[in-house]
Amino acid sequence: MMENGNFFQEADATVSLLRQVSPYFLQHRDSLFVIHLDGGVVERPILQNLVRDLMLLSAVGIRIIVVFGAESLIATRFVKNNITPSKVKDFTVFDANCMKHVKEVVGSIRLSIESSFSYVREGAPMRMGATAKISSGNFVLAKAKGVIDGQEMLFSGELRSLDNEGISQRLDRGEIVLVPPVGPGSSGELFNLDSRLLASEIAIKFQSHKLIFLHEEEEISCDGSVIRQIGVKQAELALTTKQIEGELTKYLPIATRCCRKGVERVHFISYLTDGAILRELFTRDGVGTMLSDVPFDNLRSATRADIAEILELIKPMQEQGMLLGRTYDDLLKDLDDFIVIVREGIVVATAALHQHAELGQGEVACVAVHHDYRGDEFGDMLLGELELRAHIKSLKNLFVLTTHAADWFEERGYSLGTKADLPEVRRETYSDERNSTVLIKSISN
Ligand SMILES: CC(C)(COP(=O)(O)OP(=O)(O)OC[C@H]1O[C@@H](n2cnc3c(N)ncnc32)[C@H](O)[C@@H]1OP(=O)(O)O)[C@@H](O)C(=O)NCCC(=O)NCCS
Repeated sequence: MMENGNFFQEADATVSLLRQVSPYFLQHRDSLFVIHLDGGVVERPILQNLVRDLMLLSAVGIRIIVVFGAESLIATRFVKNNITPSKVKDFTVFDANCMKHVKEVVGSIRLSIESSFSYVREGAPMRMGATAKISSGNFVLAKAKGVIDGQEMLFSGELRSLDNEGISQRLDRGEIVLVPPVGPGSSGELFNLDSRLLASEIAIKFQSHKLIFLHEEEEISCDGSVIRQIGVKQAELALTTKQIEGELTKYLPIATRCCRKGVERVHFISYLTDGAILRELFTRDGVGTMLSDVPFDNLRSATRADIAEILELIKPMQEQGMLLGRTYDDLLKDLDDFIVIVREGIVVATAALHQHAELGQGEVACVAVHHDYRGDEFGDMLLGELELRAHIKSLKNLFVLTTHAADWFEERGYSLGTKADLPEVRRETYSDERNSTVLIKSISN
């Protein structure tokens, strides 16, 4: 009896799982993903699981181009051999001696990846090794970088052309295409290529649905908080204001350019988490950071059609005294100030930015996230969008009046202010009875 019970429980769980993931399978089928794989993965046992996950993606009809990087292993090799190549700006000058090591490292990574695809462990789902072939070839033609700041860049190269047809043929046959970060020039000499740039150029040329960076680092953070989704404009602003720091900033300029040039989404995923790529692609909230020109969950300006849903969303918070009472007419009057996040067609979060442009001040107001969606960083997304809008409108300072969320704003860079910090018109409407805390933030740099 007990065993039967377990069987049915497991079957129920399987049915529910299939129902959850099947929309994603349908959504991704026939899509093209370009994956930038940090070559350091070949030294980790996780490689085998990662390869199985890629095989699974290929088996469900996703077209995959893997561009692997070798930078970290090349750097280690250089250190071991006391090689210190010169640099011009951010570029390394690869001479003949460096290239000897580059060839060995790249060759060895390529062999490790290829053999992982051939190795099918007992019990691997669907024994997919039989169908998911990996194909590498001379798809990339390179050219010399030439001279930068008077320095001959020798074997540091860049992409000259791509064999689109050759790659497409392999993809049509259901093969995974593997592209190394080196390419021959017109006279047959080999050039070292920046693998991230190469991956992004390929993603742009093929207008892939996704460019995925699979690297070691954990998620991208901003001001200490993990970013799950970020819009291109937000990312560009975060880069200029240096809010995003560390290794991963290297990826963002390439990624934002990619989105601007038509690649729908760029994901940053750490391969250290087992199954990370599947979690990112087949669960609602994912595990990595996603950059998109199409705002996730549709964060957009509010329209007249949203007013009824905004009122319904904020009603319980008004009743608890968290938010100021607002009527339909109030919302209609200030509609241009409001933004909303819509999930599955329903407004689940809202916020407003009221401007006092002549004073360079803006009021962040009515930040409200539906109870069921709290903790999913919708509050952060709203605030990020309002701050971006304030920045674009050249506002210098933001203030907010809150009865229940002072800590939340303080953790996001707002500091305690007083009534005296408010513009006069707002001081006049300040309710001593509500006794809201005043918080302020400078956004001028
Ligand atoms: C404040 C509010 C907008 C945050 O939205 P959210 O989407 O849950 O926020 P995020 O997911 O971006 O951040 C969640 C974090 O903030 C914390 N947090 C949420 N509400 C908080 C509050 N009122 N005070 C302090 N911290 C709060 C959570 O504990 C969580 O912390 P953790 O990351 O350490 O676990 C939401 O709680 C809300 O709608 N509150 C009621 C309305 C309100 O008071 N609005 C402010 C007046 S303008």
